[in-house]
Amino acid sequence: MDESDIINHFDLQKHPEGGYYKEVYRSKGEILSEHLSDEFVGNRNYCTSIYFLLTSDTFSAFHKINQDEIWHFYKGTSLKLHLISPEGKYSLVTIGDDFKNGDLFQFTVLAQYYFAAEVIKKNSFSFVGCTVSPGFDFRDFDLPSCETLTLKFPIHKVIIKKMTHH
Ligand code: GUN
Repeated sequence: MDESDIINHFDLQKHPEGGYYKEVYRSKGEILSEHLSDEFVGNRNYCTSIYFLLTSDTFSAFHKINQDEIWHFYKGTSLKLHLISPEGKYSLVTIGDDFKNGDLFQFTVLAQYYFAAEVIKKNSFSFVGCTVSPGFDFRDFDLPSCETLTLKFPIHKVIIKKMTHH
């Protein structure tokens, strides 16, 4: 089995940040905007989840959202998550099943952190799930250019150059 079996079976589509995804759950219930913090414009579903697949010849570029995002590892090989906090502190975690070498099966990226992901092993893929609450909406999605993000965090220019698409 390889990544194309998973992409085809679950009908995954290209994601603007890189990789492939498919939304698998969206709560029917809605949180009204008056009950959400100011950065949310409009109502949001309670919760959403996606399948997300990254291959070693692509990467997920630095982006941020207004909600915490919970990553779950399903299949394939480990991936690196690069994180930059709102204060500009860089950190790195690996998500995978090799827990004896520090991989996490589950990790939560906090709201407003910029994050980017890449598969560590060549000719390989990582298949994960990403769950957010309040539910995902592209109005909460910020995918900055290399230039914009470097202006914000000049000290991280090397990793920003590597992990942005334009
Ligand atoms: N739905 C569409 N894109 C995304 C994403 O990047 N994360 C989550 N959790 N849901 C999405």
